[in-house]
Amino acid sequence: MWLTAAVESYEPSTYGDQIAGIYDELYDGLFDTAGAVEFLSGLARGGRALELGIGTGRIALPLQRAGVHVSGVDASRAMVDRLEAKAGGDSIPVAIGDFKEPPVTGPFDLVFVAFNTFFGLLSQDDQISCFEAVASLLAEDARFVLEAFVPDLSRFDRHQRVSVDEVMLDQVRLEVTRHDPVAQRIDSQHVVLSEQGTRLYPVRIRYSYPGELDLMAQLAGLRLQERWGDWRRRPFTSESHAHVSVYSRPL
Ligand SMILES: C[S@@+](CC[C@H](N)C(=O)[O-])C[C@H]1O[C@@H](n2cnc3c(N)ncnc32)[C@H](O)[C@@H]1O
Repeated sequence: MWLTAAVESYEPSTYGDQIAGIYDELYDGLFDTAGAVEFLSGLARGGRALELGIGTGRIALPLQRAGVHVSGVDASRAMVDRLEAKAGGDSIPVAIGDFKEPPVTGPFDLVFVAFNTFFGLLSQDDQISCFEAVASLLAEDARFVLEAFVPDLSRFDRHQRVSVDEVMLDQVRLEVTRHDPVAQRIDSQHVVLSEQGTRLYPVRIRYSYPGELDLMAQLAGLRLQERWGDWRRRPFTSESHAHVSVYSRPL
């Protein structure tokens, strides 16, 4: 999809609407989706699962095939159209809306949000609202699983960064970023340069450190139960670039 006009206001749907056409191609093979499905299906135990920011169904579709009753929430109709066009996609119920307050009815045995998608909520207030909404959707003994990166501010030089994602014969992919350490905001553009022109894919996030996420969980009446370095349950250490965190009501 070509971005023909300046994006005047960044909405919850903006990222998905712009990137839907290339999302699967862009991230193909970069994730441990099989590991995520095994981890999540073990926690769902054949029950009801809700994915926040379900997107094109990268995890939801194989999770459904593993016997979990999956539904989802997403702000972007364009992303969900891609999901529904895939085999089995039309059997996954998806609510279009903001997962700050997911427009769905619980209870769920598992709620999860993968691939830094939680950081798509751009303020601390919205992130707290999401934890509170998730807590109200969880069945007794249910889990909330959150996968996200560990912030690494050494990536930035004077609050900015330009990096090269890929150099091919017919195109170059760059990431152009500004960082606001006070708001904990990162505003980026994935820029694709080719002989056909320039394409822009905006993404804005508000990052949180693991400890801040744990405090938000506590405000919502949840507790951290497990934290791993990845979906294969490798230990979470000071070297970890990401974490898979599991919250529940106090056991
Ligand atoms: C990075 S993609 C992840 C898609 C999928 N979960 C995966 O792991 O491949 C983020 C998804 O979250 C959606 N999203 C971002 N912010 C949202 C919000 N506030 N409410 C609902 N959906 C949102 C986007 O539209 C997009 O489909």
